[in-house]
Amino acid sequence: MWKGRFAQETSALVQRYGESVSFDWRLYPHDIAGSIAHSKGLLKAGILTSEEQHQIETGLLAIRHQIEAGDFEFKESLEDVHMNIESELTRRIGPAGAKLHTARSRNDQVATDVRLYCRTEITRILGLISSMQAALVECAERGGDTVMPGYTHLQRGQPVLFAHHLLAYVEMLARDASRLADCRQRLNVMPLGSGALAGSTIILDREFVAQQLGFAGVTQNSMDAVSDRDFVAELLFAISLLGVHLSRLSEDVILWASAEFGFVTLSDAHTTGSSLMPQKKNPDVAELTRGKSARLIGNLMSILTLLKGLPMTYNRDLQEDKEPLFDSIDTTVIALEVFTEMITGMDVNQAKTTAAASDPMLLATDLADYLVNHGVPFRQAHEVIGKLVAYSIEQQRTFGDMKLEEFQRFSPAFEADVTACLNLETAMTARKGIGAPSPQNVKAQLARWRKALTPE
Ligand code: ARG
Repeated sequence: MWKGRFAQETSALVQRYGESVSFDWRLYPHDIAGSIAHSKGLLKAGILTSEEQHQIETGLLAIRHQIEAGDFEFKESLEDVHMNIESELTRRIGPAGAKLHTARSRNDQVATDVRLYCRTEITRILGLISSMQAALVECAERGGDTVMPGYTHLQRGQPVLFAHHLLAYVEMLARDASRLADCRQRLNVMPLGSGALAGSTIILDREFVAQQLGFAGVTQNSMDAVSDRDFVAELLFAISLLGVHLSRLSEDVILWASAEFGFVTLSDAHTTGSSLMPQKKNPDVAELTRGKSARLIGNLMSILTLLKGLPMTYNRDLQEDKEPLFDSIDTTVIALEVFTEMITGMDVNQAKTTAAASDPMLLATDLADYLVNHGVPFRQAHEVIGKLVAYSIEQQRTFGDMKLEEFQRFSPAFEADVTACLNLETAMTARKGIGAPSPQNVKAQLARWRKALTPE
């Protein structure tokens, strides 16, 4: 492709070192779409005749067909996907093929291809996030009004509904989806026409070409356009955080599936056994997801580190953006798919969660609130209940076993109705402020999500 200036062949080692076709071949649908749009721009600018443009378009479509059929041979000697496709096109159609690269460089070409790739993959991931949210909502609905302890510091705090806990993840995933949609919108501008770095003296209607590719607009600075990979960094951040959320859910599932908690049962299809210990049923899907989220963060670090020292404009270092990007996308796609399946096959063990949630200590805050409702300032109420907790531990008796006189020894504000606030069901119903887990609220939230996740 650059033989004019060179007297020597590229060293075989350099060729192996520099090739990217072994991984960037997968950009082919975007490369072909970009080239077809570019050829239409060349036609409009009078560089190509209709006949030539037609030859290019049908040639490229035939190549795509051939790649999809699995009988296209990508050659390492042709370095990357762009040169492989262009050279095959020229082999097929001759002179018209040799005109395709007019007013274009691989620098604006690859920047365009990667944006198109990211746009497609974001749309796919958004669909998978919705399915995962739907699986969580459905699992929450199956759990009904099941109560469980809510934790802070992994110490029992206050009772919540199992559904409320799962819906927390639905919220996180919604933020992930919104970040991805935002990233997709920002990346949806076309670099093509920026050339190697300074545009071209051959003027194409860039807006027209952008329209062909579904871009919302065109980049406004050719130097920025060929060297900008902000959208890769943004995308990898958005999916790293998604990975962090999946990893946190993994951790919950792993704890819940342990004998110590026993809160959920995972399906046989989504767990594995031990080659040694016959009784084992391991939550590998959750463990792998927790592990794979590390890769997503690592890939983000690779991209940021790759970009930080680059002088303007395109530098070959940028070829190193693809493997971390592809790996993060592939990892995210399969993690979402397998996690969705696992959640669909997960059942809550109501007896276990209810037993754990029935620990009267979980209602210590409710007792403090009771005193507040009887005129005691909260700080004072907190101390009274603290002493009552210490007394209960020392006596090895629960609040429910105590007589009214005993309560009154700690505060005269206690009355006979104190027993009512020690009832778990009453305690749950009382948590009816916006965002709190009363059964009625949770039901409304489930309905809201159901509706939001049902495709029109
Ligand atoms: N394979 C290259 C990449 O991914 C394409 C651009 C090459 N441009 C160049 N001037 N060598 O970045």
